[in-house]
Amino acid sequence: MTILAKALCFLSLLMFSGYALSGDKMAGETRYKETCINCHGPAGKGAASYPKISGNEVSYTKSKLEAYRDGIKQGPNSSLMFMFAEALTDGEIANLAAYLKDAKYNEN
Ligand code: HEC
Repeated sequence: MTILAKALCFLSLLMFSGYALSGDKMAGETRYKETCINCHGPAGKGAASYPKISGNEVSYTKSKLEAYRDGIKQGPNSSLMFMFAEALTDGEIANLAAYLKDAKYNEN
């Protein structure tokens, strides 16, 4: 392999792993609007007794969603989350966490 080919190979690997680690915000937003928005409100701002879930570190959101997916109680109303987290793949959790970290609700 030429040096150039090796460099290109390394670069694409870097790009791919970066993508996988940081999650895809756009995909996260789309997924969020499918179900999560019904309880957590637009941009994760929270609604009534449903917690605000935007603005948290990616690692925090990921660990919460993984715990719900595993059926581990976090708060008094975890059972409401279980059925929604159950359906999430690792990729979806990463995307949702990336989206929610910077999601902002603009009141007009
Ligand atoms: C039926 C309403 C409902 C839906 C739909 C729902 N949630 Fe929740 N969510 C809740 C409730 C209630 C809690 C608090 C649960 C508890 O007491 O542990 C919660 C908690 C959370 C938390 C933890 C908040 C914290 O800081 O402790 C995250 C993160 C979260 N939800 C993300 C999501 C995502 C992402 C989706 C979509 C895949 C989603 N939720 C769909 C009702 C819902």
